[in-house]
Amino acid sequence: MSGEGAAVLSGAADSAASADRPAEATAEAAPEATAPGVPLEIEILTLFPGMFAGALAESIPGRVQSRGLAAVRIHDLRQWGLGRHKTVDDYTYGGGAGMVLRPEVVAGALAALRRPDSTVILPDPGGEVFAQPRAHDLATRRHLIILCPRYEGVDERIRSMVDLELSIGDYVLSGGEIPAMVVIDTILRLLPGAIDAESTMEESFTAGLLEYPQYTRPPEFNGVTVPPVLTSGHHEAVRKWRLKEALRRTWRRRPELLEGRQLSSEEGKLLAELKLEDDEGTETPGRV
Ligand code: ADE
Repeated sequence: MSGEGAAVLSGAADSAASADRPAEATAEAAPEATAPGVPLEIEILTLFPGMFAGALAESIPGRVQSRGLAAVRIHDLRQWGLGRHKTVDDYTYGGGAGMVLRPEVVAGALAALRRPDSTVILPDPGGEVFAQPRAHDLATRRHLIILCPRYEGVDERIRSMVDLELSIGDYVLSGGEIPAMVVIDTILRLLPGAIDAESTMEESFTAGLLEYPQYTRPPEFNGVTVPPVLTSGHHEAVRKWRLKEALRRTWRRRPELLEGRQLSSEEGKLLAELKLEDDEGTETPGRV
């Protein structure tokens, strides 16, 4: 699978090289960088363009772009840097360690890239926690601009320039690049035509639940056998088993996911059934 989309990922490949190019060359490229007819266009603003090349070239993100379902372009934020040294950050007023991104730099970048149909996103540990419903929402937008801060964060006035702040979890990364990749990967696989229709249907059937257990060959491994229903050939029995096991896993590991969920009558029945069967209660995944 490796390298599937690499040849056609012109945005990432060009931009990965842009870190080494004179700023003017990339600045000139930006206004031309539109892709009419492509359902979703994404601009990434970063001080580390090279971080994106691999993540966006491989597997589904690469394929989505080579099929023309999305275009991802990477822009070196430094091209909007200030003065001869293209400065992008500065010390915080009031003192303290670290530097923050200056507002004029971001304002310049957004002036060049923002369109009437843009949604500007700032990855930030204090943002809305990114989850699947937001991914579905973003997959319907036309134009996303993701601003990746580095260092100690951004000047507070930058927040009023963005439409959405997103956190990918309660931990602090060293910058917004990895959160941007997480958000983009999640969105790209949701675009119509990105993955086969069967997988999408399967996902929607257990939407909001953890994944049911899956097995492949061999039928027996280290004394553990594949549940017989999965080899029975009874599609309806397999569907029901999967739904029940998805509910069981969710109830054991992430019971809070079931709280806000509207259960169908079938789901309600299966949940009641498995609660009677199952006195293990909550389960901690993984071992330490
Ligand atoms: N930047 C640093 N940590 C982050 C997080 N957890 N989510 C989004 N952006 C971040």
